[in-house]
Amino acid sequence: MTKSLIEVLAGRRQSVPPIWLMRQAGRYLPEYRALRQKIGNFLDLCLDPKLAAEVTLQPIRRFRFDAAILFSDILVVPYALGQSVAFTAGDGPRLDAVTDAESFRKLRKGLDHERLAPVYETVARVKSQLPADVTLLGFCGAPWTVATYMIAGAGTPDQIPAREFVYRAPQLLDELLDILVEASVGYLVRQFEAGADAVQLFDTWAGILPDDAFGRCCIKPCARIIAAVRARIPGAKFIGFPRGAGSRLKAYIDAVDIDAVGLDWTVDLAFAREEVQSRKPVQGNLDPVVLLAGGDALDRAVDRIMENFSAGPFVFNLGHGVLPDTPVAHVEQLVTRVRASR
Ligand code: CP3
Repeated sequence: MTKSLIEVLAGRRQSVPPIWLMRQAGRYLPEYRALRQKIGNFLDLCLDPKLAAEVTLQPIRRFRFDAAILFSDILVVPYALGQSVAFTAGDGPRLDAVTDAESFRKLRKGLDHERLAPVYETVARVKSQLPADVTLLGFCGAPWTVATYMIAGAGTPDQIPAREFVYRAPQLLDELLDILVEASVGYLVRQFEAGADAVQLFDTWAGILPDDAFGRCCIKPCARIIAAVRARIPGAKFIGFPRGAGSRLKAYIDAVDIDAVGLDWTVDLAFAREEVQSRKPVQGNLDPVVLLAGGDALDRAVDRIMENFSAGPFVFNLGHGVLPDTPVAHVEQLVTRVRASR
Protein backbone atom coordinates (compact mmCIF):
# COMPACT_ATOMS: atom_id res chain seq x y z
CA MET A 1 0.00 0.00 0.00
CA THR A 2 1.37 3.43 -0.84
CA LYS A 3 1.80 6.17 1.70
CA SER A 4 0.57 9.48 0.32
CA LEU A 5 3.14 11.54 2.21
CA ILE A 6 6.01 9.46 0.82
CA GLU A 7 4.52 9.88 -2.66
CA VAL A 8 4.67 13.66 -2.25
CA LEU A 9 8.26 13.46 -0.99
CA ALA A 10 9.04 11.66 -4.26
CA GLY A 11 7.58 14.65 -6.11
CA ARG A 12 4.23 13.09 -6.98
CA ARG A 13 1.29 15.40 -6.37
CA GLN A 14 -1.72 13.81 -4.65
CA SER A 15 -5.27 14.82 -5.61
CA VAL A 16 -6.03 15.21 -1.90
CA PRO A 17 -2.87 16.38 -0.14
CA PRO A 18 -1.68 14.31 2.81
CA ILE A 19 -2.16 16.15 6.10
CA TRP A 20 -0.44 16.00 9.47
CA LEU A 21 0.25 18.76 12.01
CA MET A 22 3.35 19.72 13.90
CA ARG A 23 2.63 19.10 17.61
CA GLN A 24 -0.39 17.01 16.66
CA ALA A 25 0.14 15.06 19.88
CA GLY A 26 -0.07 17.31 22.91
CA ARG A 27 -1.98 19.39 25.34
CA TYR A 28 -4.92 20.36 23.09
CA LEU A 29 -6.01 16.68 23.21
CA PRO A 30 -7.98 15.60 26.31
CA GLU A 31 -6.58 12.06 26.01
CA TYR A 32 -3.03 13.50 26.09
CA ARG A 33 -3.81 15.64 29.14
CA ALA A 34 -5.27 12.62 30.94
CA LEU A 35 -2.15 10.56 30.32
CA ARG A 36 0.22 13.48 30.97
CA GLN A 37 -1.31 14.00 34.42
CA LYS A 38 0.03 10.66 35.57
CA ILE A 39 3.65 11.45 34.65
CA GLY A 40 5.43 14.20 36.58
CA ASN A 41 8.39 14.85 34.36
CA PHE A 42 7.81 15.37 30.62
CA LEU A 43 11.16 13.75 29.82
CA ASP A 44 9.98 10.57 31.57
CA LEU A 45 7.08 10.47 29.12
CA CYS A 46 9.44 10.87 26.14
CA LEU A 47 11.56 8.01 27.49
CA ASP A 48 8.72 5.57 28.22
CA PRO A 49 8.23 3.62 24.96
CA LYS A 50 4.79 2.28 25.81
CA LEU A 51 3.35 5.68 26.77
CA ALA A 52 5.22 7.61 24.08
CA ALA A 53 3.89 5.18 21.45
CA GLU A 54 0.38 5.60 22.83
CA VAL A 55 0.65 9.41 22.66
CA THR A 56 2.05 9.20 19.12
CA LEU A 57 -1.01 7.21 18.05
CA GLN A 58 -3.67 9.34 19.79
CA PRO A 59 -4.01 11.92 17.01
CA ILE A 60 -3.96 9.18 14.35
CA ARG A 61 -6.94 7.44 15.95
CA ARG A 62 -8.84 10.68 16.35
CA PHE A 63 -8.18 12.38 13.00
CA ARG A 64 -6.68 9.63 10.81
CA PHE A 65 -3.79 11.94 9.86
CA ASP A 66 -1.57 10.72 7.00
CA ALA A 67 1.55 10.78 9.17
CA ALA A 68 2.38 9.99 12.77
CA ILE A 69 5.30 11.87 14.27
CA LEU A 70 7.36 10.16 16.92
CA PHE A 71 6.47 11.56 20.33
CA SER A 72 9.69 12.83 21.86
CA ASP A 73 11.44 16.18 22.06
CA ILE A 74 14.42 17.80 20.35
CA LEU A 75 16.06 18.22 23.79
CA VAL A 76 16.61 14.47 24.32
CA VAL A 77 19.79 15.00 22.25
CA PRO A 78 21.42 17.40 24.76
CA TYR A 79 20.27 14.96 27.45
CA ALA A 80 22.12 12.14 25.67
CA LEU A 81 25.17 14.43 25.40
CA GLY A 82 25.22 14.55 29.19
CA GLN A 83 23.62 17.95 29.72
CA SER A 84 21.02 18.10 32.47
CA VAL A 85 17.58 18.69 30.94
CA ALA A 86 14.35 19.25 32.86
CA PHE A 87 10.91 20.50 31.92
CA THR A 88 9.29 22.45 34.71
CA ALA A 89 5.53 22.94 34.62
CA GLY A 90 4.60 26.20 32.90
CA ASP A 91 8.24 27.20 32.62
CA GLY A 92 9.45 25.24 29.62
CA PRO A 93 12.82 23.52 29.43
CA ARG A 94 15.75 24.11 31.80
CA LEU A 95 19.29 22.99 30.93
CA ASP A 96 22.67 23.68 32.56
CA ALA A 97 23.76 26.31 30.08
CA VAL A 98 26.83 25.98 27.86
CA THR A 99 28.27 29.45 28.37
CA ASP A 100 32.01 29.05 27.87
CA ALA A 101 34.81 26.62 27.03
CA GLU A 102 34.66 25.08 30.46
CA SER A 103 30.96 24.22 30.42
CA PHE A 104 31.37 23.07 26.80
CA ARG A 105 34.08 20.60 27.85
CA LYS A 106 31.65 18.91 30.24
CA LEU A 107 29.60 17.64 27.30
CA ARG A 108 30.19 14.19 25.90
CA LYS A 109 31.60 14.28 22.37
CA GLY A 110 29.19 11.59 21.22
CA LEU A 111 25.69 10.45 22.10
CA ASP A 112 24.98 8.03 24.88
CA HIS A 113 22.71 5.78 22.83
CA GLU A 114 21.65 3.90 25.93
CA ARG A 115 19.86 7.03 27.08
CA LEU A 116 18.06 7.13 23.73
CA ALA A 117 17.25 3.43 23.43
CA PRO A 118 13.66 4.05 24.67
CA VAL A 119 13.13 6.47 21.77
CA TYR A 120 14.19 3.86 19.22
CA GLU A 121 11.90 1.39 20.92
CA THR A 122 9.02 3.88 20.63
CA VAL A 123 9.63 4.10 16.88
CA ALA A 124 9.54 0.31 16.54
CA ARG A 125 6.38 0.03 18.65
CA VAL A 126 4.54 2.69 16.67
CA LYS A 127 5.64 1.11 13.41
CA SER A 128 4.11 -2.22 14.39
CA GLN A 129 0.77 -0.59 15.25
CA LEU A 130 0.44 1.95 12.45
CA PRO A 131 -1.93 1.45 9.47
CA ALA A 132 0.08 0.65 6.31
CA ASP A 133 -0.85 3.87 4.50
CA VAL A 134 0.24 6.15 7.39
CA THR A 135 3.79 7.49 7.27
CA LEU A 136 5.93 7.25 10.38
CA LEU A 137 8.04 10.38 10.83
CA GLY A 138 11.07 10.59 13.05
CA PHE A 139 12.73 13.91 13.79
CA CYS A 140 15.47 15.85 15.43
CA GLY A 141 16.16 19.49 16.05
CA ALA A 142 18.58 21.07 13.58
CA PRO A 143 21.95 21.83 15.22
CA TRP A 144 21.44 25.60 15.45
CA THR A 145 18.00 25.28 17.08
CA VAL A 146 19.21 22.67 19.59
CA ALA A 147 22.27 24.85 20.28
CA THR A 148 20.06 27.86 21.12
CA TYR A 149 18.55 25.94 24.06
CA MET A 150 21.89 24.46 25.11
CA ILE A 151 23.45 27.92 25.23
CA ALA A 152 20.56 29.79 26.89
CA GLY A 153 19.76 26.93 29.26
CA ALA A 154 16.08 27.72 28.71
CA GLY A 155 13.56 28.78 26.14
CA THR A 156 13.76 32.53 25.51
CA PRO A 157 11.53 34.69 23.30
CA ASP A 158 14.39 35.85 21.08
CA GLN A 159 17.35 33.49 21.71
CA ILE A 160 19.71 36.38 22.43
CA PRO A 161 22.23 34.23 24.35
CA ALA A 162 22.83 32.02 21.28
CA ARG A 163 22.79 35.00 18.93
CA GLU A 164 25.43 36.65 21.08
CA PHE A 165 27.50 33.46 20.81
CA VAL A 166 27.58 33.88 17.01
CA TYR A 167 29.74 36.99 17.59
CA ARG A 168 31.37 36.38 20.96
CA ALA A 169 32.36 32.71 20.65
CA PRO A 170 32.24 31.71 16.97
CA GLN A 171 34.76 28.93 17.35
CA LEU A 172 32.99 27.38 20.32
CA LEU A 173 29.70 27.63 18.44
CA ASP A 174 31.25 25.82 15.45
CA GLU A 175 32.53 23.08 17.75
CA LEU A 176 29.11 22.73 19.35
CA LEU A 177 27.41 22.57 15.93
CA ASP A 178 29.93 19.89 14.87
CA ILE A 179 29.06 17.78 17.89
CA LEU A 180 25.36 18.22 17.16
CA VAL A 181 25.82 17.25 13.50
CA GLU A 182 27.51 14.00 14.53
CA ALA A 183 24.95 13.33 17.25
CA SER A 184 22.02 14.00 14.91
CA VAL A 185 23.43 11.63 12.28
CA GLY A 186 23.70 8.76 14.76
CA TYR A 187 20.31 9.55 16.24
CA LEU A 188 18.51 9.70 12.89
CA VAL A 189 20.20 6.60 11.48
CA ARG A 190 18.88 4.65 14.45
CA GLN A 191 15.39 6.11 13.96
CA PHE A 192 15.44 4.91 10.34
CA GLU A 193 16.73 1.51 11.43
CA ALA A 194 13.87 1.27 13.95
CA GLY A 195 11.30 1.94 11.23
CA ALA A 196 10.94 5.67 10.50
CA ASP A 197 9.80 6.24 6.89
CA ALA A 198 11.13 9.82 6.78
CA VAL A 199 12.42 12.41 9.23
CA GLN A 200 11.92 16.11 9.78
CA LEU A 201 14.73 18.49 10.73
CA PHE A 202 13.19 21.21 12.91
CA ASP A 203 15.13 24.45 12.55
CA THR A 204 12.63 26.49 14.53
CA TRP A 205 15.12 29.32 15.10
CA ALA A 206 16.65 29.55 11.61
CA GLY A 207 14.95 32.87 10.96
CA ILE A 208 16.73 34.81 13.70
CA LEU A 209 20.22 34.18 12.32
CA PRO A 210 22.03 37.20 10.91
CA ASP A 211 22.35 36.77 7.18
CA ASP A 212 26.09 36.14 7.15
CA ALA A 213 25.66 33.29 9.64
CA PHE A 214 22.72 31.57 7.90
CA GLY A 215 24.99 29.44 5.72
CA ARG A 216 27.32 28.48 8.51
CA CYS A 217 24.72 27.78 11.24
CA CYS A 218 21.64 26.60 9.35
CA ILE A 219 22.48 25.43 5.81
CA LYS A 220 25.83 23.74 6.33
CA PRO A 221 25.02 21.63 9.40
CA CYS A 222 21.71 20.46 7.87
CA ALA A 223 23.38 19.57 4.55
CA ARG A 224 26.07 17.61 6.39
CA ILE A 225 23.52 15.64 8.40
CA ILE A 226 21.60 14.61 5.28
CA ALA A 227 24.71 13.53 3.37
CA ALA A 228 26.04 11.51 6.29
CA VAL A 229 22.69 9.81 7.03
CA ARG A 230 22.26 8.89 3.35
CA ALA A 231 25.77 7.41 3.28
CA ARG A 232 24.43 4.88 5.80
CA ILE A 233 20.72 4.78 4.82
CA PRO A 234 20.60 5.23 1.02
CA GLY A 235 17.59 7.23 -0.11
CA ALA A 236 16.74 8.41 3.42
CA LYS A 237 13.90 10.94 3.13
CA PHE A 238 14.08 14.35 4.78
CA ILE A 239 11.72 17.24 5.35
CA GLY A 240 13.51 20.46 6.31
CA PHE A 241 11.73 23.14 8.34
CA PRO A 242 13.80 26.34 8.48
CA ARG A 243 11.20 28.48 10.24
CA GLY A 244 11.41 32.14 9.38
CA ALA A 245 13.89 31.66 6.53
CA GLY A 246 11.81 33.91 4.25
CA SER A 247 13.69 34.81 1.08
CA ARG A 248 16.59 32.64 2.29
CA LEU A 249 14.45 29.58 1.48
CA LYS A 250 15.97 29.74 -2.01
CA ALA A 251 19.51 29.34 -0.75
CA TYR A 252 18.32 26.68 1.70
CA ILE A 253 16.69 24.43 -0.91
CA ASP A 254 19.64 24.93 -3.26
CA ALA A 255 22.16 23.71 -0.72
CA VAL A 256 20.24 21.35 1.57
CA ASP A 257 19.21 18.21 -0.31
CA ILE A 258 15.83 17.74 1.35
CA ASP A 259 12.84 15.95 -0.20
CA ALA A 260 10.37 18.62 0.93
CA VAL A 261 10.54 21.95 2.68
CA GLY A 262 8.28 23.06 5.52
CA LEU A 263 6.99 26.63 5.22
CA ASP A 264 6.01 28.79 8.17
CA TRP A 265 2.87 30.97 8.12
CA THR A 266 4.69 34.22 7.35
CA VAL A 267 6.00 33.28 3.92
CA ASP A 268 4.63 35.05 0.85
CA LEU A 269 2.47 32.44 -0.89
CA ALA A 270 3.18 33.55 -4.45
CA PHE A 271 6.92 33.54 -3.72
CA ALA A 272 6.65 30.10 -2.11
CA ARG A 273 4.75 28.69 -5.08
CA GLU A 274 6.90 30.21 -7.80
CA GLU A 275 10.36 30.07 -6.25
CA VAL A 276 10.12 27.12 -3.87
CA GLN A 277 7.38 24.66 -4.90
CA SER A 278 8.61 24.88 -8.50
CA ARG A 279 11.78 23.16 -7.24
CA LYS A 280 10.79 21.13 -4.15
CA PRO A 281 7.62 19.66 -2.69
CA VAL A 282 6.34 21.98 0.03
CA GLN A 283 4.64 21.44 3.37
CA GLY A 284 2.64 23.95 5.36
CA ASN A 285 1.70 26.58 6.22
CA LEU A 286 -1.52 27.39 8.08
CA ASP A 287 -1.11 29.93 10.87
CA PRO A 288 -1.56 28.02 14.17
CA VAL A 289 -3.41 31.09 15.44
CA VAL A 290 -6.14 30.81 12.78
CA LEU A 291 -6.58 27.18 13.87
CA LEU A 292 -7.04 28.51 17.38
CA ALA A 293 -9.54 31.13 16.16
CA GLY A 294 -11.60 28.78 13.98
CA GLY A 295 -14.79 29.86 12.19
CA ASP A 296 -14.90 31.37 8.70
CA ALA A 297 -11.39 32.74 9.06
CA LEU A 298 -10.11 29.17 9.31
CA ASP A 299 -12.04 28.02 6.23
CA ARG A 300 -10.79 30.97 4.20
CA ALA A 301 -7.19 30.44 5.27
CA VAL A 302 -7.36 26.73 4.37
CA ASP A 303 -8.86 27.51 0.96
CA ARG A 304 -6.21 30.10 0.21
CA ILE A 305 -3.41 27.64 0.94
CA MET A 306 -5.07 24.89 -1.07
CA GLU A 307 -5.60 27.21 -4.07
CA ASN A 308 -2.01 28.27 -3.91
CA PHE A 309 -0.25 24.90 -3.55
CA SER A 310 -2.62 22.16 -4.74
CA ALA A 311 -1.40 22.16 -8.34
CA GLY A 312 1.97 20.76 -7.25
CA PRO A 313 3.45 18.32 -4.74
CA PHE A 314 2.12 19.47 -1.38
CA VAL A 315 1.66 18.28 2.20
CA PHE A 316 -0.89 20.18 4.26
CA ASN A 317 0.44 21.22 7.69
CA LEU A 318 0.60 24.20 9.99
CA GLY A 319 3.29 26.85 9.77
CA HIS A 320 4.33 25.89 13.32
CA GLY A 321 2.95 23.67 16.10
CA VAL A 322 -0.64 23.30 17.33
CA LEU A 323 -1.22 25.72 20.24
CA PRO A 324 -2.31 24.10 23.53
CA ASP A 325 -5.65 25.96 23.73
CA THR A 326 -6.77 24.92 20.24
CA PRO A 327 -10.27 23.37 20.29
CA VAL A 328 -10.37 19.81 18.95
CA ALA A 329 -13.42 20.81 16.87
CA HIS A 330 -11.27 23.28 14.90
CA VAL A 331 -8.84 20.50 13.99
CA GLU A 332 -11.80 18.39 12.82
CA GLN A 333 -13.04 21.31 10.74
CA LEU A 334 -9.59 21.68 9.17
CA VAL A 335 -9.15 18.00 8.32
CA THR A 336 -12.67 17.76 6.84
CA ARG A 337 -12.13 20.82 4.67
CA VAL A 338 -8.74 19.70 3.32
CA ARG A 339 -10.07 16.22 2.51
CA ALA A 340 -13.22 17.60 0.83
CA SER A 341 -11.17 19.83 -1.43
CA ARG A 342 -10.20 17.56 -4.33
O1 CP3 B 1 3.44 16.02 18.04
C1 CP3 B 1 4.62 16.30 17.75
O2 CP3 B 1 4.92 17.22 16.96
C2 CP3 B 1 5.73 15.42 18.29
C3 CP3 B 1 6.32 15.81 19.53
C4 CP3 B 1 7.19 17.02 19.66
C5 CP3 B 1 7.31 17.73 20.89
N1 CP3 B 1 8.28 18.68 20.75
C6 CP3 B 1 6.51 17.45 22.09
C7 CP3 B 1 6.46 18.43 23.19
C8 CP3 B 1 8.08 17.60 18.76
C9 CP3 B 1 8.34 17.29 17.30
C10 CP3 B 1 8.76 18.65 19.47
C11 CP3 B 1 9.83 19.48 18.87
C12 CP3 B 1 10.36 20.62 19.63
N2 CP3 B 1 10.61 20.70 20.96
C13 CP3 B 1 10.82 21.82 19.02
C14 CP3 B 1 10.81 22.12 17.53
C15 CP3 B 1 9.48 22.45 17.02
C16 CP3 B 1 8.84 23.64 17.66
O3 CP3 B 1 7.78 23.47 18.27
O4 CP3 B 1 9.39 24.74 17.54
C17 CP3 B 1 11.29 22.64 20.05
C18 CP3 B 1 11.86 24.03 19.89
C19 CP3 B 1 11.18 21.92 21.28
C20 CP3 B 1 11.61 22.36 22.63
C21 CP3 B 1 10.51 22.41 23.61
N3 CP3 B 1 9.79 21.33 24.05
C22 CP3 B 1 10.03 23.55 24.29
C23 CP3 B 1 10.56 24.96 24.11
C24 CP3 B 1 8.99 23.12 25.14
C25 CP3 B 1 8.24 23.98 26.13
C26 CP3 B 1 7.17 24.76 25.48
C27 CP3 B 1 5.92 23.94 25.35
O5 CP3 B 1 5.35 23.90 24.27
O6 CP3 B 1 5.54 23.37 26.38
C28 CP3 B 1 8.83 21.73 24.95
C29 CP3 B 1 7.85 20.85 25.62
C30 CP3 B 1 7.03 19.92 24.78
N4 CP3 B 1 7.47 19.21 23.70
C31 CP3 B 1 5.65 19.59 25.01
C32 CP3 B 1 5.29 18.65 24.02
C33 CP3 B 1 3.97 17.97 23.85
C34 CP3 B 1 4.80 20.10 26.18
C35 CP3 B 1 5.22 19.45 27.44
C36 CP3 B 1 4.09 18.98 28.31
O7 CP3 B 1 3.18 18.27 27.84
O8 CP3 B 1 4.16 19.29 29.49
